[in-house]
Amino acid sequence: MPSATTHPAELRRVDFSNHAEIVSALSSDGGVILTNFTTTETVDRVNEEVAPWLARDKPWKGRLFPPETRRCSRLIGRSDTARREWLADDRLFAVLGRFLGKTTRIWYDDVATEHTTEPILSTANTIDVRPGAAAQRLHRDDKVHHADHDDMTEAGYKPGADVSISLLVPGVESTSENGATLVIPGSHLWGDERPPKREEASRACMKPGEALMFLGSMYHAGGANVTKDQHRPVHGLFFCRGNMRAEENVYLGFPEEQVKEWSDKELRRTGYAISSPNLGFVDFVSPMHLIKGTWKPEEHEFLVDLD
Ligand SMILES: [Fe+2]
Repeated sequence: MPSATTHPAELRRVDFSNHAEIVSALSSDGGVILTNFTTTETVDRVNEEVAPWLARDKPWKGRLFPPETRRCSRLIGRSDTARREWLADDRLFAVLGRFLGKTTRIWYDDVATEHTTEPILSTANTIDVRPGAAAQRLHRDDKVHHADHDDMTEAGYKPGADVSISLLVPGVESTSENGATLVIPGSHLWGDERPPKREEASRACMKPGEALMFLGSMYHAGGANVTKDQHRPVHGLFFCRGNMRAEENVYLGFPEEQVKEWSDKELRRTGYAISSPNLGFVDFVSPMHLIKGTWKPEEHEFLVDLD
């Protein structure tokens, strides 16, 4: 616990080519700032590709985002560059696989087989945090998966403990003034009984080309943008274990025209509703609304209260 005379620990900076050091930093601190993650030209291209979507977005009406933010959902479909340069990067998935991949021995009669599940993208979006935007509350991103957390502060990090990893790529230089992410290094080791405190958090300030990677169990929060004139777009790619989904992909199996005739109860039980908190949205909206045609963005509050 930091005293009044000490500062909270900061995350380490590690070159993106140094796989072993990245794994070590994530295991010991829960997060790491990747230097040379990408180029400033690539960041500029992604910024340009999402700009039209940010421009048409409306102020958020729920608690998840301050009204001074704008969003571009479906990032990997709307930015070819983000998909080709970041999602398809094998160095990235080598790290993700170390934490989120899982190999299990499975018996078929008396024959032992091994099966490995690989990480998948859980969601990707751009959030543009504009002047006046308040800070988020400190939280763990793996809350959407109802992850359990044992206290590992004495024993040390247990491989396989995490179910998700977040990657934030700043579109501009992120500073304490424009809202650089608040992080609590080491908080991935805390048990579920321990709440996070603001005075325990440091800042993940970054230049374009760098990226913040952290385990789903590490406490963090988007900072307040207290500038008068700086937009702070951040491109987020969020990953989870590959087995965190239903066995059958019913969403591709059944056309929308068919399921719109189903009852709310039938749709909910098939997985079209939001799993609280905030799992299963499309464009931050419950699929139930989209299927039923009841979504009226000018009238409704956003039902998905992400944070
Ligand atoms: Fe978060």
